Amino acid sequence: MMKELLARLTGAFGPAGREEEIRALLQQELEQAGQCESITDELGNLIVFRGKATQKKILVTAHMDTIGFMLTSIEENGFLRFTPIGGVQASTLPGKRLRFRGGLTGVIGQEKIKEQKDLDFSKLYLDFGAANAKEAQQYVQIGDTAVFAAPLVAEGDRLVAGAMDNRAGCALLVETLKRLPDDLPQAVCFAFTVQEEVGLRGAQAVSYRVNPHFGLAVDVTRSGDTPEPYYKTPISLGKGPAIKIKDRSVICHPRVTALMRRVVEEKQLPHQIEVLEQGSTDAGAIHLARAGVPTGALSIPCRYIHTPGEMIDRNDLENGVLLLLALLQAEW
Ligand code: CO
Ligand code: ZN
Repeated sequence: MMKELLARLTGAFGPAGREEEIRALLQQELEQAGQCESITDELGNLIVFRGKATQKKILVTAHMDTIGFMLTSIEENGFLRFTPIGGVQASTLPGKRLRFRGGLTGVIGQEKIKEQKDLDFSKLYLDFGAANAKEAQQYVQIGDTAVFAAPLVAEGDRLVAGAMDNRAGCALLVETLKRLPDDLPQAVCFAFTVQEEVGLRGAQAVSYRVNPHFGLAVDVTRSGDTPEPYYKTPISLGKGPAIKIKDRSVICHPRVTALMRRVVEEKQLPHQIEVLEQGSTDAGAIHLARAGVPTGALSIPCRYIHTPGEMIDRNDLENGVLLLLALLQAEW
């Protein structure tokens, strides 16, 4: 069941730069899927290969890191100061819980400010109940990282968790690997990448190593189906996975988008077309590797991205698996 898989994946620690725990879990899931041979590169990207060395290669990535927080100082009174890892808005943080690797959990407090628009990270602190710096230092040190404490909940078809960006994409890849037939028209490299949230860094190294003929990034994308959304977009939850045309990091290659459109028509899969004004994905790094790689992206619509309440629709995830399966069995 993909819900259980997603519950495990969203529960694993893995802010950008500290992906050890999520990578170990993914390795375990891959072994259970019968895919035992993987390599971990120098930066921590996890790569698995299916096919023959003589075939054309498609690189499919899903980043396994999440946004997070890093401790910058421990104050005399035991309160902790922190800085964001990746794009997080200070205004969404007061009252939220952060969890360190190993489980230690604190709550974010906010200093008094004149106006709410003055809120920035210098006015926020983390409180895990330490009476003073000495006590706090027994548990944490400067440079330690934390993520939202936000395990998965399911309400009907809607799934909510703190790390849906991009463990939903990781689940999509794992599930595709489970169902993928041995005989494929071209080889495929699945890569679970590191440090996407701080600038598509893992994907850059992976695409150099793999040197693919085509690239495809799988990630979540913003939906616009909420009251007065901050970013206007016709993408909705539950209407199918999205074929990305562009975001801020990439203009998807027309050859790849045309293939994706052809496959969804042939298989009659629900789908949406995505033009995203903000945001970026691994595709941004892949398409610029070496001499250039025609690259596209498959997106899972998501509400409340980069908050503890990231919400997706499980049908989009299932249809995403069907789309990726069909794509990898098509001639590129
Ligand atoms: Co993100
Ligand atoms: Zn993402």
